[in-house]
Amino acid sequence: MAEVVIVGDSGAAGTLVAEAIVSLIEERPDAVLGLATGSTPLPVYEALAARSQGLDLSRVRGFALDEYVGLPAGHPESYRSVITREVVEPLGLVPERIQVPNGAAETIQHAGADYEAAIQAAGGVDLQILGIGTDGHIGFNEPGSSFASLTRVKTLTEQTRRDNARFFDSIDDVPMHCITQGLGTILRARHLVLLAFGAGKAAAIAAALEGPLSANLPGSAVQLHPRATVVLDEAAASELQHADYYRYAYANKPAWQGI
Ligand code: PGA
Repeated sequence: MAEVVIVGDSGAAGTLVAEAIVSLIEERPDAVLGLATGSTPLPVYEALAARSQGLDLSRVRGFALDEYVGLPAGHPESYRSVITREVVEPLGLVPERIQVPNGAAETIQHAGADYEAAIQAAGGVDLQILGIGTDGHIGFNEPGSSFASLTRVKTLTEQTRRDNARFFDSIDDVPMHCITQGLGTILRARHLVLLAFGAGKAAAIAAALEGPLSANLPGSAVQLHPRATVVLDEAAASELQHADYYRYAYANKPAWQGI
């Protein structure tokens, strides 16, 4: 079972996760971070940027979870652009050390295998940041994704395209396809940190953490991981059956353990 931490708001979640990342980097200056896009991880990046004075981030490496297929190079909503704007630049990471799956149509046939090879060559991901979609996806692993899946092309659900239309002029501009780390890829990371905020995520979170393991709810894959931390605000935790137990367990956790 994942450790579930329920905090007051997304800012507190960002601070908590940023502290864990700082500890990791202090211990391992060339740590490999698994980077997520979307609104959810932003408080983590903001807290990390605020906390990064005196911290040497020059050797940190990173792998993004996913990318749209077929957006023109430099498109502002490509995840390469988003990661550059929201993570690499504010944190002062070295751009060459941060990789994003290659969504260019010309090389898409082998882009998944290339990405898997790059992650392996880096020694794997130390800490993977995750959000969850309202349909239960993690990365862009939509319902039906195999728990053994590796980085590959997927078709986005209509719901995900609607959810992401806010970043584009219209839903018609949201790409149909993406390339995403698989659930099997994500499960190889040494520590998973899944964040969710707001009532809109409550059903997906309850199903992922307390429902059956099912490819139908890809976020349930976190139940298979030996070290998964789930950080929620009250609204996202509101449908959890065992919320009181999670609060009790966290309140009684030895301080030295961190998350
Ligand atoms: P969000 O997206 O953080 O923008 O809500 C999460 C996701 O789709 O994985």
